[in-house]
Amino acid sequence: MEQTPEISIESMKEDDLEEAVRLVSDSMNVEEAAWARQAMEFYFSCIKHGIDSGRQYYVWRDDGKICGLVGLHRYIWGPERNVWLSWFAVHGDHQDRGVGSALMDSVKEHAIRAGYKKLLVETYGNPTFQKARSFYRARGFRQVGRIENYLPDGSAMIVFAMPLTK
Ligand SMILES: CC(C)(COP(=O)(O)OP(=O)(O)OC[C@H]1O[C@@H](n2cnc3c(N)ncnc32)[C@H](O)[C@@H]1OP(=O)(O)O)[C@@H](O)C(=O)NCCC(=O)NCCS
Repeated sequence: MEQTPEISIESMKEDDLEEAVRLVSDSMNVEEAAWARQAMEFYFSCIKHGIDSGRQYYVWRDDGKICGLVGLHRYIWGPERNVWLSWFAVHGDHQDRGVGSALMDSVKEHAIRAGYKKLLVETYGNPTFQKARSFYRARGFRQVGRIENYLPDGSAMIVFAMPLTK
């Protein structure tokens, strides 16, 4: 197995939006990309208005191109100790080389430094997310919830969680 690469993530900027949405579209599907666009547009308009959206998005670039994306999302109406992973994707050309693992490690460090105690992730039961489900299971997440018939295609929402410790 190759060594896990050194990855440094940077905060996403508004100019990154089109490229980030394209990455979600290519790695997941157009429906998820449309929802990502709404979430990200909301995030940037909150910044402009000085409103805390509870969100933060990060990108990883290779040769100037966005090839990795990951975010943290706190429900602003919920407990401050819990944070959700959001819009996690690695470009197909870079998958299975440890990039996703490195992105996960970086975002966990950010979450721990911000004082969060529990990391949750919402994923789905359909084949698009099969790789993600096994990725989370292999990295210490445990399935803590399942809501049947959640997506328009009838797929279940599956929630994984892990405690955040140093
Ligand atoms: C889930 C996702 C982000 C993982 O990214 P990734 O870069 O492929 O992740 P990694 O390379 O770290 O790990 C994937 C596999 O590669 C292999 N791998 C990991 N590190 C490796 C290394 N250094 N060398 C060789 N192979 C390696 C492992 O077998 C690992 O499999 P496992 O998850 O069963 O342990 C990616 O598959 C993706 O973008 N999927 C589509 C979008 C998606 O579903 N996102 C999640 C939404 S909830």
